[in-house]
Amino acid sequence: MALADTFGRPLRDLRISVTDRCNFRCVYCMPKEVFGHDYEFLGREKLLSFEEIERLARVFVQGGVGKIRLTGGEPLIRRDLDLLVGLLSTLGDIDLTLTTNGALLTRHAAALAAAGLTRVTVSLDSLDDEVFQAMNDVDFPVGQVLSGIEAAAAAGLPVKVNVVVKRGLSDGSVADMARFFRGTGHTLRFIEYMDVGHTNGWRLNDVVPAAEIIATIDAEFPLEPVDPAYRGEVASRYRYRDGAGEIGVIASVTQPFCGDCTRARLSADGKLYTCLFAVRGHDLRALLRSGASDEELGTAIGGVWTRRGDRYSELRTAETSALRKVEMSFIGG
Ligand SMILES: C[S@@+](CC[C@H](N)C(=O)[O-])C[C@H]1O[C@@H](n2cnc3c(N)ncnc32)[C@H](O)[C@@H]1O
Ligand code: SF4
Repeated sequence: MALADTFGRPLRDLRISVTDRCNFRCVYCMPKEVFGHDYEFLGREKLLSFEEIERLARVFVQGGVGKIRLTGGEPLIRRDLDLLVGLLSTLGDIDLTLTTNGALLTRHAAALAAAGLTRVTVSLDSLDDEVFQAMNDVDFPVGQVLSGIEAAAAAGLPVKVNVVVKRGLSDGSVADMARFFRGTGHTLRFIEYMDVGHTNGWRLNDVVPAAEIIATIDAEFPLEPVDPAYRGEVASRYRYRDGAGEIGVIASVTQPFCGDCTRARLSADGKLYTCLFAVRGHDLRALLRSGASDEELGTAIGGVWTRRGDRYSELRTAETSALRKVEMSFIGG
């Protein structure tokens, strides 16, 4: 079953949020003033179980998904995540990856790799503890994330490093990050600060455009563009002219890529979202728990995808960015 939406975009990628909780309070994602201690996170019975996630993922794979990314919240705070990775790794020849803040990666990297994870993306915005701690807002040190990256590489997992660039906060770290990771084999991906969710107080002035990020790196380490590897690739890729590796930039604000977006998102409580900037999801958990067959689940997913017409980033305006969008920690980044 090959599914296409109203713009002919196929369903290829599934991002699964395994928890809405996090051990960080990144100012651009879960700001402390909003998500402090009393925030109402999902209760255990509302979360999809690993078996429920596997069942839905199987139906998505039958619908054409070839890439699954586990995310959150912080996926590694969900206990025994390697068991879920093991279940998903039986779904066939899929790219099975994880996005993590890296805080718990040293402890879990080997088990995740052994369970069948294909690769990992670690988020790290700066090598400077002061800047990094101002972003994660829980005094978490850079060194432990770097140890997590090393543990992942030692376990044989290819590593990408996500860097959110926010004006006045991490823009001064761009060249440092490039200098440090060049030649390591770990690909940096710089991400424009986005107006995801409703709580981060996003302003266009805080966005550092991808072109500026590239120019900053190119001034020190000359770059050249690389062709996209496949349709729907989110990052625009560049390589160092001296052969020291590649970087990517995700310019979802200044150069939106909705036209090629092939991603669906499953929230921790089993709602299907067809856009990162959605205000509403479709409840697959209710269907699943009402005893629906795989065929019925497939029909429901197909119905949502074939009606999909989202292209938020291409339509973004001051008004749309103020909409009450679902938080990224809930829907899965
Ligand atoms: C929501 S997080 C979830 C996974 C994990 N907790 C982590 O931080 O890697 C996924 C990715 O979204 C990025 N992110 C969060 N808020 C963002 C924002 N407002 N703009 C751009 N990227 C953002 C994070 O830096 C991270 O790389
Ligand atoms: S970006 Fe990741 S680590 Fe930071 S608050 Fe959001 S979910 Fe947590």
